[in-house]
Amino acid sequence: MKTTYQTKDILEYFDISRQTLYNWINSNLITKPNTDWRGWRIWEEQHINEISDIIERNKEKNNEANLNRNTTNKLFHIHNRRYLGSKYKLIPLIKKVIKEECEPYTTFADIFGGTGVVADAFNAANTKVIVNDILYSNYISYHTFFSNEPYDKRKVKNLIIQLNNIRPENDNYFSINFGDTYFSYKNALKIGEIRETIEQWSNNDIINHREKSILITSLLYAMDKVANTCGHYDAFRKTIDSGATPIKLLLPSIKDNYNKNNEFYKEDANLLVRKIKADIIYIDTPYNSRQYSDSYHLLENVARWEKPEVIGVARKMVDRSDIKSAYCTKKAPFVFKDLIDNCDCKYIIVSYNNMAQKGNGRSNAKISDGEIIETLQSKGTVKVFDTDYKYFTTGKSTIEKHKERLFLCKVN
Ligand SMILES: C[S@@+](CC[C@H](N)C(=O)[O-])C[C@H]1O[C@@H](n2cnc3c(N)ncnc32)[C@H](O)[C@@H]1O
Repeated sequence: MKTTYQTKDILEYFDISRQTLYNWINSNLITKPNTDWRGWRIWEEQHINEISDIIERNKEKNNEANLNRNTTNKLFHIHNRRYLGSKYKLIPLIKKVIKEECEPYTTFADIFGGTGVVADAFNAANTKVIVNDILYSNYISYHTFFSNEPYDKRKVKNLIIQLNNIRPENDNYFSINFGDTYFSYKNALKIGEIRETIEQWSNNDIINHREKSILITSLLYAMDKVANTCGHYDAFRKTIDSGATPIKLLLPSIKDNYNKNNEFYKEDANLLVRKIKADIIYIDTPYNSRQYSDSYHLLENVARWEKPEVIGVARKMVDRSDIKSAYCTKKAPFVFKDLIDNCDCKYIIVSYNNMAQKGNGRSNAKISDGEIIETLQSKGTVKVFDTDYKYFTTGKSTIEKHKERLFLCKVN
């Protein structure tokens, strides 16, 4: 015998109003049910399936509407990502030191740019910024935030909505290699499909170089929000939440009016300083043996999209030799000296975290405070500031108490 239900069961089970149910019958969205001898409707399995389908479809439509609404209204900012050694919180100190010690200036170079947040803080109508990093994934973001190459904002907005609405069906490079590792399988599938779509749009001249950079940057920032990590890709958490937040791309907030003469590079800083001239050069090297190419290999992989073989539990690209930094090795004091010797500027500002003493351990600093000061003194007059904007002498014992310091050198 068929299982049947009364109207009140249906209303209760699906949590819908009587009016909604009748509207669906009247607009033929569900089959009209038979009635019993009392005139009461008899609901069967077929109706249950039809009603479930309508509710599912409506849910998806609502999700899409929300997604589109959020994509259109919400912007992401250059600092909205997790990055080892980001100086976002140090910006007030850097600004204060520069205001009181280095004005006037018209060119600011951030040659170990990372996220680019420091350069961004100085990107203004009357200031040209020069930003650089060895990682392509950072360079592409500079192209988004600092370039004056034209882009069609409305078109980018619509493309982001399209990317957010992609529903991939087949496995791809990213889902095969990264599904259920740093990302839920569903997100990995979507990331791969989004990245491939951007590549196709670029190959077919649907988007220009700037628009491509914006879309990739938007993807990289969105990935950071749903990654199953503590902000870098050396390891992922073992338990994947299968219902992890779905990835959602947003539009970047770009200071279009200020991006007039900026320059951005993807070069070894030691080579770059031989070519550029700036009023202020800001230097924020890695300070221990953790290579950024190891921590951000995955973003590098997505940004370049050459689909290389990946190995090990951490799924790193086999060849990362071109993005290894000498600042994470024993050579650090020597390359630092070479860098400073070749800076062509009025002021040099160095950030160097002294959480750990110099040594050979993984988290030991690679350059001692003494070496930094001695090197800078060979170029000019040196002052050191801490986060309370306390200027203190360069005697070693005083410096050690301070975690974040700025070394300022007024070049002779
Ligand atoms: C401490 S982080 C900079 C963080 C940055 N100030 C911020 O706030 O986001 C150091 C950066 O230097 C880059 N790097 C390392 N060696 C480099 C080199 N030889 N030339 C240029 N960049 C390098 C790394 O990729 C990393 O992004």
